[in-house]
Amino acid sequence: MDVPTAPPPSRATKTLQKRRLEALGALHYVLAFWLLAPFSIVLFIYMLFTRLWFLTVLYLLWIYLDRDTPSQGGRRNDSTRRWEIWKHQRDYFPIKLVKTAELPPNQNYVLGAHPHGIMTTAPFCNILTECNNFSRRFPGLQPWIATLAGIFYIPVFRDYIMLIGLRPASRHSLDFVLSQPQVGKAVVITIGGVREALYTAPGRHCLKLLNRKGFIRLALRHGASLVPMYSFGENDIFKCKAFPRGSWQYMWQVTYKKITGLPLCICWGRSIFSRNSWGLLPFSKPMTTVVGAPIPVPQLSVPTEKQVDHYHRLYMEALERLFEEHKESCGVPASTHLTFR
Ligand SMILES: *[C@@H]1O[C@H](CO)[C@@H](O)[C@H](O)[C@H]1NC(C)=O
Ligand SMILES: *[C@@H]1O[C@H](CO)[C@@H](O)[C@H](O)[C@H]1NC(C)=O
Repeated sequence: MDVPTAPPPSRATKTLQKRRLEALGALHYVLAFWLLAPFSIVLFIYMLFTRLWFLTVLYLLWIYLDRDTPSQGGRRNDSTRRWEIWKHQRDYFPIKLVKTAELPPNQNYVLGAHPHGIMTTAPFCNILTECNNFSRRFPGLQPWIATLAGIFYIPVFRDYIMLIGLRPASRHSLDFVLSQPQVGKAVVITIGGVREALYTAPGRHCLKLLNRKGFIRLALRHGASLVPMYSFGENDIFKCKAFPRGSWQYMWQVTYKKITGLPLCICWGRSIFSRNSWGLLPFSKPMTTVVGAPIPVPQLSVPTEKQVDHYHRLYMEALERLFEEHKESCGVPASTHLTFR
């Protein structure tokens, strides 16, 4: 079924320049997703106290006038999908995409991305960029990734993430995408969200899914097929300190998340200059996103709890099967299984 992708060049045959470009590719993602937002918030507040205060005011006015754009089509430029930097990022880990079934573009899809990891790197690379030929392998599909709605108010950062194809994970925004007359939309949702980021640790496969049912209701409202998707290796690219449930550190993390909406993960990568010291650069561990087969669902404008539970169960079973079938080829020991919370 699947078209094999070109094998990544081995480390020994890569030139120093290529290795540097790859590290830059991996670093770009970290900087864009962790530092751009706080940096622009601080910069725009700072400017208020300088002669450039009017820039902050004009920008806030612009956010206000532009407030509906993120949830109504966004402002994506498809040429960003073909940036060279994504290919370097792909080769750094490397990142692979495995297709297990056709997703014909004559209908819409709701794809669940698991696990969240620290930055959902593999789904981003595979779906929002062409580094693994997504559009060639799933012809006619228009993919989007849904993320925290609040971050679409952060100056500069919001324009950047809109440009590369992120959308707010609000009901309004998702309903808007899936009710367009043109079908072939594939909405990707990181179901476990920020809460699941707290479970990130190398070799761990723990998902927040038992009581996450909003995406099932969304799929049922629109009759969009559900597609499970698992990214092996996503939890391995940073070293993380995962605290046991019930410990005071864990309670702290959960409380912080409740107040700010953001995960407070204690995690680290390697230094840009040396493999042996810690830093912001993720570790180069292989990641493979496996896209499962679609689960057809009926269109029900007001689904009952029983119907929601039924499709939620089907989805969990399909995800578990996908994990079991592909885990060993992705380096996960046979004795490891998914755990759900
Ligand atoms: C993408 O497609 C092109 C053209 O078919 C091919 O040369 C290239 O190896 C593919 N890349 C991957 C990562 O599969
Ligand atoms: C997308 O960006 C490119 C430059 O990177 C520009 O030439 C093109 O006009 C843009 N397309 C749209 C639809 O804005």
